[in-house]
Amino acid sequence: MSLLERVAALEAEVKNATARSAEEAEKFRVAMLGRNGAVTELFDAFKQIASEEKRLLGQRLNQLKQAAQARIDELKAATEEARTEQGSGSDLSAPAATEPTGSLHPISIVRQRIVDIFGSIGYTVSQGPEVEDDHHNFGALNFPPDHPARDMQDTFFVESDDLALRTHTSSVQVRVMESGQPPIRTISPGRVYRNEAISARAHCMFHQVEGLYVDKGVSFADLKGTLDHFTKSLFGPDVSIRMRPSYFPFTEPSAEVDMSCSICGGAGCNICKHSGWVEIMGCGMVDPTVLANCGIDPEVYSGFAFGMGVERITQLIYRVPDLRMYWENDVRFLDQFTAATFRR
Ligand code: DAH
Repeated sequence: MSLLERVAALEAEVKNATARSAEEAEKFRVAMLGRNGAVTELFDAFKQIASEEKRLLGQRLNQLKQAAQARIDELKAATEEARTEQGSGSDLSAPAATEPTGSLHPISIVRQRIVDIFGSIGYTVSQGPEVEDDHHNFGALNFPPDHPARDMQDTFFVESDDLALRTHTSSVQVRVMESGQPPIRTISPGRVYRNEAISARAHCMFHQVEGLYVDKGVSFADLKGTLDHFTKSLFGPDVSIRMRPSYFPFTEPSAEVDMSCSICGGAGCNICKHSGWVEIMGCGMVDPTVLANCGIDPEVYSGFAFGMGVERITQLIYRVPDLRMYWENDVRFLDQFTAATFRR
């Protein structure tokens, strides 16, 4: 093969050269321009030839060397680009990855809805301690000394003659009335504790929202209207409520509030035990003795109070079948509760 033919062959090889990696590009450089590379060898051979041939061949050789260098630079740049793209782990065509944001606990979502509804009709939010004294949890609320609610089976006592974990948020209404005069319009959301065996239907801790309205001339009709507005705001305009006579030491008269079953629309299902009604809270007119116990003149003022369980209401909204799920912190359960799944 003449020198010219060898140059032509190498020109073609340079033009078609490929490399899948930086190592392959480097190998190609060594094979062409390295100490014993094909192009280098041609330069050595070039020295031997007659001077009249040198002009033409010299030009071709220089062009070949430049072309080889340019091709090598190209291959190296291309393989380097591919390497950094892989190295950063990014597939630029992949959909954007988003961080999991977590979600509110269903109890928090529903409690907030309740607070919002009462907030929109002028109720403030008040709080009290979870470790409460006998006076605020029982005494001022007219529980007789031998009332079963004070019994060891219901109450978690702490190591004190006087303190216990509060068994209801009604304790907060005592604190509010003791610390200010009417008009009072407040709700008290919070955790409460009872010494109950844990099962699908009962737990030793749960949440309540207590409500209290005291002013001149507050009537049972105000109570019913307020609770009707509340249930329709939370569950939708199609639900209705009914009141059944009941007994609480701190209200007179007292009532249980039933709501037409939001799950079956009143036709009867497992949740409402085929009655078409579900019990959602207790309520009544604040007993005059309780007002007096808290420093409010029952001759001047009257009021109503109500108390509801947040777990129960959440169960009706989200159809949670087992109370224990609220406390297990299983993300497969918790993940499901977003504003979008709020059902009423
Ligand atoms: N404290 C009651 C309970 O835990 C609920 C309740 C009933 C609260 C009637 C009230 C009320 O304010 O008027 O079962």
